[in-house]
Amino acid sequence: MATDAPSTLRVQLVEQPRLQKLKEMFLSKFGTAPEFYVRAPGRVNLIGEHIDYCGYAVLPMAIEQDILIAVKPVKSQVVQLANTDSSYLDFSTNVNNVQINKTKPQWHNYFLCGLKGIQEHFGLNNPTGMNCLLDGTIPPSSGLSSSSALVCCAGLVTLKANGKTLSKVELAEICTKSERYIGTEGGGMDQSISFLAEEGTLLAKSKGLDWKDMSRLHDVQSGLGVSLADMLTVVEAVLHPEPYSTEEISKCLGISLEELRSQGLSQNTQDVSTFKLYQRAKHVYSEAARVLEFKKICNEAPADAIQLLGELMNQSHISCREMYECSCPELDRLVDICLQFGATGSRLTGAGWGGCTVSMVPTDKLNTFMKNVGKAYYQTNVQRLALENNSLFATKPGSGALVFVEA
Ligand code: GLA
Repeated sequence: MATDAPSTLRVQLVEQPRLQKLKEMFLSKFGTAPEFYVRAPGRVNLIGEHIDYCGYAVLPMAIEQDILIAVKPVKSQVVQLANTDSSYLDFSTNVNNVQINKTKPQWHNYFLCGLKGIQEHFGLNNPTGMNCLLDGTIPPSSGLSSSSALVCCAGLVTLKANGKTLSKVELAEICTKSERYIGTEGGGMDQSISFLAEEGTLLAKSKGLDWKDMSRLHDVQSGLGVSLADMLTVVEAVLHPEPYSTEEISKCLGISLEELRSQGLSQNTQDVSTFKLYQRAKHVYSEAARVLEFKKICNEAPADAIQLLGELMNQSHISCREMYECSCPELDRLVDICLQFGATGSRLTGAGWGGCTVSMVPTDKLNTFMKNVGKAYYQTNVQRLALENNSLFATKPGSGALVFVEA
């Protein structure tokens, strides 16, 4: 029996206009009422960028914007998917023949990742078919994890439709793995992972550790048994700011270029000729330290907590921009504008290289902040103007994935 499974709430649809509307659309689409609804939220990362895969803690927050799916299990072994946004086309497939298109993924492929993850976990021989209608409110391509929310939502939909239970942790693990069925879509993330693992391996060798056992920068810190502040000193002492060529890295490690390519570089970095090891390692260790500092301030709540937290967010953005190089001119401009109009802290959030910023704004300044940022960033540019309504919003912490059934 799964402990800490996602909650199921019994709700009166008259009190839930969004569910009610989805039910009506479902009825007109499929001719029957949904049996249950599943919601999975998007997220914003408050601080801790590009360090989760290096083994460090991060501080994400679930947001109100989400993926909501109305579901009716059916007797046939067909999954029919429809979206309330008609620009996303209907899709149907046999549940025993799930094909995920990695090269040109469309929205339904993310659903299929969650579906396949659960099917495989339970080795379901006879999975149920279902009719599903999806309603999403997470702006796409914004770095707020709309794709992951869809995979998670589909995972929970499949779990529930097949009468199974799992804990939230198990579900998260399965959905993390099953999202890989879609392959690399962003074009930057996988390279970064391999790249940083390579940095750790270098550092390790110079400090007498067995670098072949280390794949994350956190492994190097644990291996040395020192603090994050000490790791920053190590980076200064051991690495140089000039980019490293593959020849120099293989020489440092005492291996051939071929060995470096086969043992140290991922598929995506095979053809990369230089690596900024110093900058990337500096970002990771300093960002990991900022996350711990952020948490400490939240716990201790000193009188100037808001200023201190804002300053950490600003430092995080500078490090992402200068050291990790995952910002872009538009994100930098937006951060500047947000700070100019009253944000206490502002930074890019998510993978970066485009996407979204997150700002901390005192409640009493929120209205003027939204108006002025809208004017300064969106209303000065015709292309951005069209995005303003969906893109500029205030949010508060939302809950995790849930199942709703009609009371
Ligand atoms: C993406 C990944 C996350 C994290 C962020 C960067 O969103 O999915 O796991 O690495 O980038 O912090």
